[in-house]
Amino acid sequence: MSVALWRHAHLATLVAGAGLWGRIEDGALLVEGDGLRWVGPESELHAATRGLAIDAENDLGGALVTPGLVDCHTHLVYGGDRAREFEMRLQGASYEDIARAGGGIRSTVAATRATGDEALFQQAAGRAAVLMAEGVTTLEVKSGYGLTLEDEARMLRVARRLGRERALTVRATCLAAHALPPEFEGRGDAYVDAVCEWLPRLHAEGLIDAVDAFCERIAFTPAQTRRVFEAARRLGLPVKLHAEQLSDQGGAQLAASFGALSCDHLEHLSGAGVQALAQAGTVAVLLPGAYYFLRETKAPPVQALRDAGVPIAVASDHNPGSSPGLSLLLMINMACTLFRLTPEEALRGVTIHAALALGFGDRGVLAAGRRADFVVWDLGHANELAYWFGHNACRQVVAGGLARTR
Ligand code: NIG
Ligand code: FE
Repeated sequence: MSVALWRHAHLATLVAGAGLWGRIEDGALLVEGDGLRWVGPESELHAATRGLAIDAENDLGGALVTPGLVDCHTHLVYGGDRAREFEMRLQGASYEDIARAGGGIRSTVAATRATGDEALFQQAAGRAAVLMAEGVTTLEVKSGYGLTLEDEARMLRVARRLGRERALTVRATCLAAHALPPEFEGRGDAYVDAVCEWLPRLHAEGLIDAVDAFCERIAFTPAQTRRVFEAARRLGLPVKLHAEQLSDQGGAQLAASFGALSCDHLEHLSGAGVQALAQAGTVAVLLPGAYYFLRETKAPPVQALRDAGVPIAVASDHNPGSSPGLSLLLMINMACTLFRLTPEEALRGVTIHAALALGFGDRGVLAAGRRADFVVWDLGHANELAYWFGHNACRQVVAGGLARTR
């Protein structure tokens, strides 16, 4: 296994209990294969490397280094766009009005069904490249714009291909319970039956890492969501939920009772919901891009989540309807300005807590034994990641121990 040394870095390790940001001012990273063999101060480097053959040495000249960023909630694979609906919303139509009139998610379903596999892949890869250029090394991709067995499978295969062909870890989440497709109009329960039959088949093809659903007035009821989760549990698959985005459905309590990895959105989360997440160890994923783009005014209960000790993650929620942005750095900034996270909370939100939201225990902090995913930034301090916006200071990305060419 090749051994590489990255020296003279200003490390924000985010290791718990190691002070603010887990900061090491003049630090080094020793990479062996795809993992971190040692991380610590320059002053201890000599002892750490004694007797070790080093294949490559890089001097970072004091640049900031953080863990690789994890975007734990995206809908990256789809056809078409919804720019026209954006104009309609600017003229006063609401997101829910548009959805009820057959637009919204359904219009992207029609466009996705009409887009071939190769085009779906090329478009998704182009979007992934934008996120990767900002230091993203792990990415979640949801299905949910196919809504037939074959179209959901096509979306998930594109996600799998992205993971194989790019220097990126990709998690594929089945979100077949995203909206009711037109062919099931008025037959929500029958559609849920169909989804429960598709899951074992998609899983047998190795296409699913987790199962998600949209529990909302314009989507699926808690009872329907429960049936999807039961089907996931029969397959041993972890669950996640789009919960309390537009109204309080008690989705967080339901998801927590299934030991969900995460509940996402949460603008309308109740006190009981907060407690349920805390008890289950479920991650709260905040999506400031959707909050901003839908011009919501009710922010998620950040202080209550904090008080209860719920891990808070932040993600892009990239999708053509509610969050057509491709910048996780902007989400860090907006998590602070719109939701009042501290810059350090926001950075943990796109690293260690985002990793937990995907079930990864091997990444998100810089420490011996973790995966060697890290980002070199042309910045003096980690708080600048939250401060600048519309500016990408990413100098270099290392994913699985390998330096990526931007
Ligand atoms: O996370 N809330 C549901 N799903 C997406 C939006 C999907 C769409 O509008 O296309 C979200 O915001
Ligand atoms: Fe989403």
